[in-house]
Amino acid sequence: MAGADEFARAAGQAIHEGRSFHVALAGGSTPVEIYRRLTKPPHRGAIPWERIRFYWGDERCVPPDDERSNFRMAREALFEPLGIPPRQVFRMKGEEDPVRAARSYEDTLRRRVAGRPPRLDLVLLGLGTDGHTASLFPDTAALVQERRLVAANFVPKFPEWRITLTLRAINSARRVIFLVAGAVKAAAAAKILDKQPGYRALPASRVAPRRGTLLWLLDEAAASRL
Ligand code: 6PG
Repeated sequence: MAGADEFARAAGQAIHEGRSFHVALAGGSTPVEIYRRLTKPPHRGAIPWERIRFYWGDERCVPPDDERSNFRMAREALFEPLGIPPRQVFRMKGEEDPVRAARSYEDTLRRRVAGRPPRLDLVLLGLGTDGHTASLFPDTAALVQERRLVAANFVPKFPEWRITLTLRAINSARRVIFLVAGAVKAAAAAKILDKQPGYRALPASRVAPRRGTLLWLLDEAAASRL
């Protein structure tokens, strides 16, 4: 599973350089299999988990035990199987007022992650069929937020509030990896990767790390229209 291998490679590099590894996890369903793969050999025993600090790219505005929570998904797929202690996990508090939770999370990033702006070692992202990523949906306010690192974002299509890293935070990372699976994502992926007409309207097309690398990992179905 390439996603797990790339995670291990990025973690190994940071730790080899004497740093802790600060990773923002993706939500949704695609990453679950990759997180589960990390809890099994060879990655389970090869990654120094005690050196890793976990963040999120986005969170739904629900309590941490809600079945929609991205934190809950990672806790079940990754933290519990690996015994990751809470002190290594920095969740977005979806149960709080979204604006307050976004400000608090930005403070957490600035306090814990080196760099001005903070440079996460790795940001994992998914892709929506509408071209959204994290909770940066088309035509929503957070997409044009140029100063903040974390934003509360009202998404009319649901309708609901989300907490999300902004493009400024994502594009400050050392590595960004998109994890995309399924034929349903093929059109959005092709539009972005082949720079088809109107591709810039898709938020995921705006992910371009300023001083970092960008990698798209697609399964065969998601890559079928490239
Ligand atoms: C979320 C994610 C979101 C997700 C895409 C793809 O909170 O849902 O951050 O950006 O990555 O919607 O979701 P799937 O992997 O479930 O298709």
